[in-house]
Amino acid sequence: MTFIRTSKIWSISENKITPENLYWNRRKFLKTLVGAGIGASILPLAGCQSSTSGVVKSASQTALEASFNLPNIANFTKNPTFYKLKRPITEEKLAAQYNNFYEFGGTKKIWLDAQKLPTENWKVEVTGLVKNPQTYDIDDLKQKFPLEERVYRFRCVEAWSMVLPWIGFPMQKLIAAVEPTSQAKYVRFTSFYDPEITTGPGFHLGSLPWPYQEGLRIEEMANELAFFAVGIYGHDLPKQHGAPLRMVIPWKYGFKGAKSIVKIEFLDSQPATYWNTINSREYDFEANVNPNKPHPRWSQATEKFISKGPDLSWEIKETLPYNGYGEYVASLYS
Ligand code: MTE
Repeated sequence: MTFIRTSKIWSISENKITPENLYWNRRKFLKTLVGAGIGASILPLAGCQSSTSGVVKSASQTALEASFNLPNIANFTKNPTFYKLKRPITEEKLAAQYNNFYEFGGTKKIWLDAQKLPTENWKVEVTGLVKNPQTYDIDDLKQKFPLEERVYRFRCVEAWSMVLPWIGFPMQKLIAAVEPTSQAKYVRFTSFYDPEITTGPGFHLGSLPWPYQEGLRIEEMANELAFFAVGIYGHDLPKQHGAPLRMVIPWKYGFKGAKSIVKIEFLDSQPATYWNTINSREYDFEANVNPNKPHPRWSQATEKFISKGPDLSWEIKETLPYNGYGEYVASLYS
């Protein structure tokens, strides 16, 4: 059963989706601001995704398009297994202006702030329990691992979803290149963080566990679905999507997909991860998409599927176990 909602997605009631910790931090942040006498002018920026105040209205359409008008990726094949879905691909401009990237702020409208991310001379260190540690630059990665396009469903823990055409390479290829030792059981992925640059309003106060880190069991990373993206919609990754390299784990909630990765470490024990450290009751390490396991503050049975504009309206769809990828991954959890 589906129906089209025509109201804007940012009209979703904030208390339905804003993680509790963000409320807490927001309040702490606002208190600080009130103390400093500057709260009112920037108050809307400290919210999370849900009000019209989060919409960037002043930035021009040209600036937005420039943020995703990037060099095309020349050499990639379309993976025939992950080529078509029953749902249409989300329009590029919607995906490019509705993002989570808390290093750059707490609203969905961080695309402009994310342009501060310095992606030149990017290096990715692969280290830890491996026989063949490496430091790659992005061109090395693009040369070394044949690139393919995969159209995947994308499901955020906040109960919105998209369908996105990523370009990248399977994580298994990196595993084969660095040869983990038999002690390696987990992998930690670390995002870029520099408090001088990643200056999202409200998210640098208190004790948030920066840098953003995520983790997988090594068997999960070796699954054929687990993917590193260097591009989307035929071109390089825009900064707001996590340029120049991000994780895409389509059977898990979107927060498992760390953006702008600088380090990958093979470990013998489960690493601490960003959201799980902040609130383990609401964000578990495994984070598999599961319609039967409600988030403590909202149901996960359905999702708001965002596909076409001009406004961010959505269609309600039933959430699929493992986001529809059970045939590939259910055996990992038996
Ligand atoms: N990675 C970093 N470094 N910082 C973040 O805030 N947010 C996560 C994930 N990766 C996040 C991140 C969450 S909650 C989601 S839903 C997805 O990125 C959003 O990806 P998108 O903006 O490309 O759609």
